[in-house]
Amino acid sequence: MLASRTLASPRTAAYSDKEGGHEARPEWLGIGLGGLLALAVLALVFVYIASSRIIARTYDVPLVALEPPTDSVLLADGQRLTGRWGCAGCHGDRLAGELMFEQLFLGRIAAPNLTRILPLYSDAELERLVRHGVKRDGKSAFVMPAKFFYHLPDDQLGSIIAFIRTIPAAEGPEGGVKFGPLGRLLLVLGEFRPAAEEVDRSVPRVPYPEPTDLLGFGEYWAMRACTFCHGEDLRGDEEVSAPSLEVVGTAYSPTQFEFLMRTGIDVGGRKLGLMSEVARDNLRHMTPQEVAGLYAYLRSRFGGDSGTPEPATADSAAVQ
Ligand code: HEC
Ligand code: HEC
Repeated sequence: MLASRTLASPRTAAYSDKEGGHEARPEWLGIGLGGLLALAVLALVFVYIASSRIIARTYDVPLVALEPPTDSVLLADGQRLTGRWGCAGCHGDRLAGELMFEQLFLGRIAAPNLTRILPLYSDAELERLVRHGVKRDGKSAFVMPAKFFYHLPDDQLGSIIAFIRTIPAAEGPEGGVKFGPLGRLLLVLGEFRPAAEEVDRSVPRVPYPEPTDLLGFGEYWAMRACTFCHGEDLRGDEEVSAPSLEVVGTAYSPTQFEFLMRTGIDVGGRKLGLMSEVARDNLRHMTPQEVAGLYAYLRSRFGGDSGTPEPATADSAAVQ
């Protein structure tokens, strides 16, 4: 019902009001419209069936047992890692769920309340969900960025899982992804893909670089934390209006860059939109060493010298 209303656009309605009434319509027009309507209904039925099949697909990814973390430092680091890898950015600070998007025709995206779901999942099932996008029932999750999480190192994922299991149960909004008619169309057209199909399992997991390898460390984080919005080549993505990161090479000192990562405030003192949310939810959890690595990597990649990264200063810490 809702879907068929989109087809009668307000503009068509206005047009027929003006023209209609006084003159008799030629008969072929009536037949044409009837035919079009029938076609549209058929197309809708097709989209509904085809999209339901995509949603119902199951994926055969084996369960892998992770070694529980033994390193007490890494275990204590679970909270920071949960922030840095972005779980809290979507699932909310207390992981009790968050409504991310709702629109009648596209659908509804809500990151579910993990405090209620985690008891149902074994560690191995969580590994498969996070790194492969496959839910307990074998179906794919949507929106969960498994293609980035695929590269999460074992020990870090282990410590995230250990930490999120300690969070007390809380109430949150109803979670999950529901598709409206337009959302279903995007699914059928392949514009919107199940998370499980976005993961390229043929490539080996990128090894976590030694922190002493500053450039390697920076590249690792640029590829995990920035490409999502700034494009695979870091040269910007018009769809989310994220600029090319060449700007880091031309306009940012190490301190200004660190300040941007922690606050989302740019070199000109302007509080950015989406970027400031990413800084608040995610980037501020990076260690000074990770930020220094990112800076060095972006400078070297885009032609500037790699600069002399400064440690976190009292100034930048005070403004946080
Ligand atoms: C970009 C937003 C986003 C990020 C980042 C994210 N999630 Fe999710 N997550 C979602 C959404 C949306 C769903 C609902 C998926 C669905 O129902 O198709 C979900 C579902 C889940 C589920 C429930 C699956 C089920 O059976 O219903 C778990 C568990 C989960 N996420 C854990 C995590 C963990 C752990 C992290 C961090 C490593 C994480 N998520 C990061 C958005 C996100
Ligand atoms: C969720 C999307 C998203 C992610 C992830 C993201 N950015 Fe951004 N970034 C943006 C957007 C959008 C802008 C444009 C300003 C705005 O509207 O917030 C921006 C702007 C910037 C700018 C330009 C500031 C200026 O001076 O104009 C820099 C530099 C930057 N981001 C660096 C990074 C780095 C480095 C990472 C990875 C560690 C990153 N961003 C991750 C969305 C993102």
